Amino acid sequence: MPGRLFSFLLTAAVVLRLTEGEKESGGSGQKHQCWHGDYDEHRCCVEKDPDCWDAVFTEKRCCPLWSNTSTLGKTRGDPTCWVGGFKFEDCCLEDPKEECWDNEFRPERCCVDRDVPLTGFFAGEDPLEAFARRIAEISTFPLGCEEERLGEVWRMIKESATSINVSRIYGSPGEKPSGENADVLNKLVLKWVNDERAWQWGRSACPMAALAAIDMTVVGIDRRFGAEKARATYQLRLDLAPTLPSTQVEAAEKIGWVDLGDANEFIPRVLGMHGEHGCFGSKLKIFIYNVPELAHMVRPVLACAQKMPQCAVSVQIHRWLATSTCVTEDAQEADLFYVPAYEACYNETACVEDGRCFPKEFDPVKHLPYFERYRGADHIFVFGCNFLPFEDPLMTAIRQSIFITVESFQAVSLSGPNLFAWFSHWKDVLIPGNIPAYKIKAMLAHNTPMYKRRLLVAFHGHSSRNKKIGHMYKSSPLAEVRDRIINYFFNASRCSAGPPVSDYFLRMGTSRFCLIPAGLTAWTIHLYESFFFGCVPVIMSDEVILPFQEEIDWSSLSLQVPASIDMEELHKKLDAYRMGRLKAMSRRLTEARCWFDYSLGWGQEASARKGCSPFLGMMKVLEKRAELARHSPYSRLKRFWEPIPHTD
Ligand SMILES: *[C@@H]1O[C@H](CO)[C@@H](O)[C@H](O)[C@H]1NC(C)=O
Ligand SMILES: *[C@@H]1O[C@H](CO)[C@@H](O)[C@H](O)[C@H]1NC(C)=O
Ligand SMILES: *[C@@H]1O[C@H](CO)[C@@H](O)[C@H](O)[C@H]1NC(C)=O
Ligand SMILES: *[C@@H]1O[C@H](CO)[C@@H](O)[C@H](O)[C@H]1NC(C)=O
Repeated sequence: MPGRLFSFLLTAAVVLRLTEGEKESGGSGQKHQCWHGDYDEHRCCVEKDPDCWDAVFTEKRCCPLWSNTSTLGKTRGDPTCWVGGFKFEDCCLEDPKEECWDNEFRPERCCVDRDVPLTGFFAGEDPLEAFARRIAEISTFPLGCEEERLGEVWRMIKESATSINVSRIYGSPGEKPSGENADVLNKLVLKWVNDERAWQWGRSACPMAALAAIDMTVVGIDRRFGAEKARATYQLRLDLAPTLPSTQVEAAEKIGWVDLGDANEFIPRVLGMHGEHGCFGSKLKIFIYNVPELAHMVRPVLACAQKMPQCAVSVQIHRWLATSTCVTEDAQEADLFYVPAYEACYNETACVEDGRCFPKEFDPVKHLPYFERYRGADHIFVFGCNFLPFEDPLMTAIRQSIFITVESFQAVSLSGPNLFAWFSHWKDVLIPGNIPAYKIKAMLAHNTPMYKRRLLVAFHGHSSRNKKIGHMYKSSPLAEVRDRIINYFFNASRCSAGPPVSDYFLRMGTSRFCLIPAGLTAWTIHLYESFFFGCVPVIMSDEVILPFQEEIDWSSLSLQVPASIDMEELHKKLDAYRMGRLKAMSRRLTEARCWFDYSLGWGQEASARKGCSPFLGMMKVLEKRAELARHSPYSRLKRFWEPIPHTD
């Protein structure tokens, strides 16, 4: 999976800009911004071309005259009914669609106007609207802080924190303050870190703002000043939060303050502030290299842990191992050697344009002192997204090493011609992609019980139709299935298929099946997401190999069908699944999801060989690989040799 592409998925930066615009123009939206190039009102609103829409440019926003859907903050009927593509207009007016109603959803309940609750979960509301409403709402609430000195700053913090909070409820990371606002915040927080009296004043003048300010700046402080400063910064938060009485926090939340702490729960873990864990009782001893030639590839750790999170396993694994009882500083007793490098953290770690982050001059034989002993067979490299092409000199040098990777098969390497790269059963370790804990929480909040799910099938993702990156999908031999899915399911009843959408979480969480087609490579993060959305994954990627097959009974909770399957046939097949069978699959998805949650396994729970975490799954396989690495008949010979001369 080419992680770099994901920067333009659902970013709240755009959301923020739009919403500010909407505030100025009185909530009417900015229709004129919708149209450029070949995209015009006729093509998009009248002909309803699906290519028009993405996370930001939604039909609802750009075509208000062409539909009778709600205006800002107002949804007719019971808003909790309008998920998964069902609308008041389709169900409650004359000639309602037949599939609107079942045991759970009835006209008596859904067609009676109800108020949208002012705070809390924005069921059924479009993210952009929820966002605009929340921001407008909190600007009318009192600040509740000592305002004499920093009133404006507290207000800015409150609005920024709210926008991030709402974005995250919909699974998007949200945009931190930028420009002047960012400068003000950074200065303020650094002053708190360096000046005890300033901190004492700040924490009592506006404690919720103090917490939010730290949450919004700590990643940047790590980038600019290093992990030590970031730890000192986050420590202030850890000290302050538990001293606030819950009544005070509740009162603050009533006037619109939000707590961003949840989404930063990874920070103390990756900064090593939680102390050591027991490595799930593993006896392996792992030596972690500190390679000067790769020093730039292990920082900034906080930014790399968050950036393109589905590719960030190299950060998770490095920091998890580094804080475990499995590490040894004595190379002589080490079973395995770990080479830390956040190889998928583009643009933070000085990668060159072709996507190769390892510096050209890095040579394992020269720079890793223990590499040659077993021809690299006891050395570990992590590939969080995309292998390098096979012809790359580094891949040749480390071809006997253990790869911990999410890629089971990769057809086109972004950094080279059409080369094949794949995972090897006998030496590599296949792991799931990383999903940040805040996203998992948001997915679970959208995960509805199977019997309430109104959609049969959902898929929203990039394809060759995409204006900007479609050419990559066109040239991938694997991605053609995505076009066929969208062509067929776009118009099918009770199905939702197309490009990324802003209410993606709502749709996935209300669909019985989620289609998981191959993309640029064989795996996609959508597969692991489906466990948290609770939709049954239908895998359509012939080359994919699934991780943790010893832990998870994949065939009891998912389907794999040929990527070439006829879509109508697939539709019929899925439609024939009975509720009882779906419920059983859904229960198994729930039981198995801990294997895909990288926030599990950092504390007490990792003290013994039990429980469930991707790290446990990884260690179990790694132990077998370690066994082989040293005793393989293929690593006996040195790289060069000649017979020892006779001495008689
Ligand atoms: C929207 O509602 C008006 C009346 O309220 C109706 O005349 C019009 O046809 C509706 N438009 C659509 C697209 O349903
Ligand atoms: C949003 O804010 C509420 C109230 O402070 C908090 O409970 C919740 O965890 C926040 N959610 C996210 C995703 O930040
Ligand atoms: C990375 O940096 C290059 C050059 O500065 C820029 O052109 C590119 O868009 C950046 N990529 C991402 C994903 O930010
Ligand atoms: C959906 O149906 C409409 C009208 O029946 C048709 O014009 C359009 O091409 C279809 N869209 C897709 C993606 O098949």
